[in-house]
Parts: sequence; structure tokens; C-alpha cells
Amino acid sequence: AATRYEAEAAPATCTGSIESNHTGYSGNGFCNGDNTIDAATQFTVTASAAGTATIAIRYANGATGNRPADVLVNGALAHANTAFDPTGAWTAWATKTFAVPVHAGTNTIRLDPATAAGLANIDYLDLETGSAPPVEGK
Ligand code: GCU
Ligand code: CA
Repeated sequence: AATRYEAEAAPATCTGSIESNHTGYSGNGFCNGDNTIDAATQFTVTASAAGTATIAIRYANGATGNRPADVLVNGALAHANTAFDPTGAWTAWATKTFAVPVHAGTNTIRLDPATAAGLANIDYLDLETGSAPPVEGK
């Protein structure tokens, strides 16, 4: 089962403001990051074991343009310039999934805007670790 980390709750950090004016979010709100290139959102997650985890990031982008971001894990670039495409409205939420390398224990996962437009609005990050790999031939 995945563990959910809400963007509006510590230990997550939001370079902007926690807001709740666009409905459909999980928890108590979402991170509306400042519309600048350095306005990152960071999650701190706990993994039970080292390996490859799957993260799902829920976001809304009611603007007309992509809001690309770099995904950094423990400070290292894991996915560069990934698209967070328009969702049609700030109340329309979508999920993006990535495979990321994690240590056992505490890890930081940072979304860094790749352009001066800043990030999409960020709702949460779900972390899935420890699912058994598929067995070949079964
Ligand atoms: C609007 C919207 C915000 C969003 C912002 C943006 O102001 O209400 O939720 O973050 O646009 O363009 O980033
Ligand atoms: Ca914003």
C-alpha cells in the first residue's frame, strides 16, 4: 500500500502558500508555489528498504502551458524537465508517476520548477515501496 504525504503538512515544505480555494484536493489544501524558478516543493518520505520506489504526484495545472519540473531525490537529479501538462482547470487534478531510487529510512523528494512559470499546484505525493517485482513466466 502507498503512504500519502500531503503537500500542505509538515514535513513537506512549500515555497509559496498553502491554499484551499480550488476544490478537489486531498487533505486540507495544496501548495500553490510562487511563480518563480526557485519555488520548490519538497517532501520528506520514509522508505522501509533501499531500492526503487514509485511515487505518484497529484497536481493541478489550470494554466494553458506546461509547468515542467525537475525531480530530485536526496539532492540528486532523478528526472529532468518532466512535463506537468495543463489539466484544464485549477480544480481538475491529475497524477504523474515516477520510479525513483530511495535509501532505507528518510529521503527527500524535491520538485524544482524548470521554468520561471513555477510549479503546478501540488496536492500530495504517494510513495509505494516494497511491492514484489513481477515473477517472470507467471
Ligand atoms: C492562479 C491560481 C493559483 C495558481 C496560479 C498559477 O492564481 O488561482 O492556484 O497557483 O494561478 O498560475 O500558478
Ligand atoms: Ca502558483
